Amino acid sequence: MSSTDQPSPPPTIRREDYRPPAFLVEQVDLHIALHPTATRVRARLALRRNPDAAGAAAALELDGEALRLLSAVLDGAPLPEDRLGHLPGGGLRIEGVPDAAVLETEVEISPEANSELSGLYLSGGNYVTQCEAEGFRRITYFPDRPDVMARYTTTLEADRAACPVLLSNGNPDGAGELPDGRHWARWVDPHPKPSYLFAVVAGDLVAVRDSFTTRSGREVALAIYVRRGDEDACGHAMDSLKRSMRWDEETYGLEYDLDVFNIAAVSDFNMGAMENKGLNVFNTKYILARPETATDMDYEGIETVVAHEYFHNWTGNRVTCRDWFQLSLKEGLTVFRDQHFSADQGSAAVKRLADVRRLRAAQFPEDAGPMAHPVRPDSYVEINNFYTATVYQKGAEVVRMMRALIGAENFRRGMDLYIARHDNQAVTIEDFVRAMQDASGTDLSRFSRWYAQAGTPELRVREAFADGRYTLTLAQSTPPTPGQPEKLPVPVPVAMGLIGPEGAEVAEPRLLLLEEAEQDFVFEGLAAKPVPSLLRGFSAPVKLSGLTLEQLGFLAAHDTDAFVRWESSQQYATATMLAMVEALRSQEPKAERAVHASGDAAFSGRTLELPEGLAAITGALLGRALEDPAFAAEALALPSEEFIADQMTIADPEAIHAVRQFLRGALGRRFAARFAALHETLADAGPYRTDGAAIGRRALRNAALAYLGAAGETGRAEAQFAGATNMTDSLAALRVLVDSDSPAREQALAAFHARWKEEPLVLDKWFTLQAMSPRTDAAAAEALSRHPDFDLRNPNRVRSLVGAFAAGNPAAFHAASGEGYRFLADMVIALDAVNTQVAARMVSPLGHWKRQDAARGARMRAELERIAARPGLSKGTYEKVSKSLA
Ligand code: PHE
Ligand code: ZN
Repeated sequence: MSSTDQPSPPPTIRREDYRPPAFLVEQVDLHIALHPTATRVRARLALRRNPDAAGAAAALELDGEALRLLSAVLDGAPLPEDRLGHLPGGGLRIEGVPDAAVLETEVEISPEANSELSGLYLSGGNYVTQCEAEGFRRITYFPDRPDVMARYTTTLEADRAACPVLLSNGNPDGAGELPDGRHWARWVDPHPKPSYLFAVVAGDLVAVRDSFTTRSGREVALAIYVRRGDEDACGHAMDSLKRSMRWDEETYGLEYDLDVFNIAAVSDFNMGAMENKGLNVFNTKYILARPETATDMDYEGIETVVAHEYFHNWTGNRVTCRDWFQLSLKEGLTVFRDQHFSADQGSAAVKRLADVRRLRAAQFPEDAGPMAHPVRPDSYVEINNFYTATVYQKGAEVVRMMRALIGAENFRRGMDLYIARHDNQAVTIEDFVRAMQDASGTDLSRFSRWYAQAGTPELRVREAFADGRYTLTLAQSTPPTPGQPEKLPVPVPVAMGLIGPEGAEVAEPRLLLLEEAEQDFVFEGLAAKPVPSLLRGFSAPVKLSGLTLEQLGFLAAHDTDAFVRWESSQQYATATMLAMVEALRSQEPKAERAVHASGDAAFSGRTLELPEGLAAITGALLGRALEDPAFAAEALALPSEEFIADQMTIADPEAIHAVRQFLRGALGRRFAARFAALHETLADAGPYRTDGAAIGRRALRNAALAYLGAAGETGRAEAQFAGATNMTDSLAALRVLVDSDSPAREQALAAFHARWKEEPLVLDKWFTLQAMSPRTDAAAAEALSRHPDFDLRNPNRVRSLVGAFAAGNPAAFHAASGEGYRFLADMVIALDAVNTQVAARMVSPLGHWKRQDAARGARMRAELERIAARPGLSKGTYEKVSKSLA
């Protein structure tokens, strides 16, 4: 397209326009001859007219993208060019296809030219596919939509030396030699599946093997394929896989259904991992772990993602989605399942805090921004833009609430019914809700509003107490979101208890159900006014307000529920920080502000003071820290700058940063002796372990180190960095140095780089630490993007620098000069020519301009407009940018 053309905007796809496909595919036989620039794909499709589709003579429509068609043969007769209608986007339309027919096509594709990482591409010289959501059409012509489920046979052919390993879905079914040093392997997948679950992996990989016996006695051969040299880094992934397989049998009665389960790990991957049937493909970040190279968070991430992909075998693969609007049917449910699994592996309370923290960091802002959409969206331009925190994390919260409402036993019965009814079908969210409703006898029609309405509901608490009668009034409202000005009340399960003045429970813990806009809940026979402990375990994804600072402080100290204790201390800190931000804003003219890097914030000479209430809460937490180190580490962390900004109508990134830095330093100084003692007490004595207790001890120890660092004490960090034998401790120490003005800073960064320059996943951390450091401004981030190790074609590297800077360094990203915004926009523009999915994802931080002051907002919009004006912009980036500007 020339730049003078006025391109029409890409079409919007609507849920209400869903129509069943005219043809189904019964059997797919693929023959793929792999070659870096000229891979040949022959496909034989056994087609049958869909009895459920309207229009008895409708044409066969095949999706296709970036394919070079070599031949098309219908029922043995070559199709002349004039019978092939060409669809926009690259698909084919064939009229006059009989009700049962066989179509054979041959195409050529170039894996090497594929920088989108969708379809068939090369990663580190190995072939790998990614087909969700719409990548299969980049491999062959096909009705590439999830409601077309077919059986697949795949024959792969490649050079034996370059590709000793040839993998696809299902079970292996023969292999052999070919002339010219080539060889072949055939795979048969007995289970019908949608095209998005197709996969091929081929190359010079080595397998780490194990096995698993299902409870009905099926022997499953397990293998994790990695680059030579990484075999020693697969143990944790393999162990996580076996525990997941057992857990799904024990918890849901769900067994694995093939003879083999293969995982392949690749360095170039748009997402975390992919649940292709019998052949999961992973980002190396979620497989490889050695104590020296992976942090405790990495270990936890691996366990979660391995479980997640495995659990998809039933929730996603055996029962799949009718269309992409139903994405949360598999993703929300599977996230719920992986969260439940991980909670069962260690401390459920700490796992829940971490999940809630992530929900609030990613999903709440999305729900309050220009891309806000329901868990089941009504429309999209580019489906890849809807793999969101809302579909995944809020979707999981909705499943969790449903379980709370109908009870664990009914939920299990509902899952059984869902799978019995819909095995090998492509279904909708309504089908899932109906199974839960039928199994429990609970009417869930109102509950379904959670799937249809965007926005985070806000709950307000009021109280009255007289003559032993306590009345709790809960009111709810959901703010307007794009396209949804008015909201209806949703059923909100509120797990709660009442705490008496002595700190004891004075009523039976209950699950209240708030169904109306406002409801009273009455408790009789109380000796004194209690303090309500609400949303225990975060029983609903809502925002709660109305408790006083005094009540929050009381709950932080006394609640029997760990979640509410944590939450109350966070809310207390939030309220305190917001008040301090207000104090700074109202008293000082903007132009005179200066924030000193030492952690002492001064706004033209004004010194902040440490609020005694917050110091008291911190002191109490420290007093009990060793009882549950993992919990203490979570509770000691101050709310993030982004979280504080989200509580303000118009954020003030400088003031928020100043307040938070000041508090970290002040708390570090006030409790220096106790932090130092914790750092010593918690030093690892025995061998390195990654169980929950060991992780918790390291987390608390490193939290102490960070507070000491914020107070200007970097000696301990220097020593820890020099002596660390695991990545968790090494990185925690390096972070303190990188955020400080210690003379050891540059040297430590250089040493870390020199030591790990051959380990891409560790180099990512090197970029991220710097990208998120308040000492890195936009110019420094831009300089890092010119570092020889930066690579726009590698999504992990892009996220580690650009994503981390824009989402994790608010003070620098929102610098008043607008340079942070300009850097991000430059990167989006450059990326859009390389990998449109990653480019579109990077747009999000620019979308929140309404939360910034007028000057910043104008600069953010200007950058969005600059991106929008680029000729040839991808539809995904176009959608994000145009919705962000609306
Ligand atoms: N379906 C994958 C998961 O959540 C995510 C994914 C989507 C991966 C699209 C690649 C492409 O498990
Ligand atoms: Zn998933």
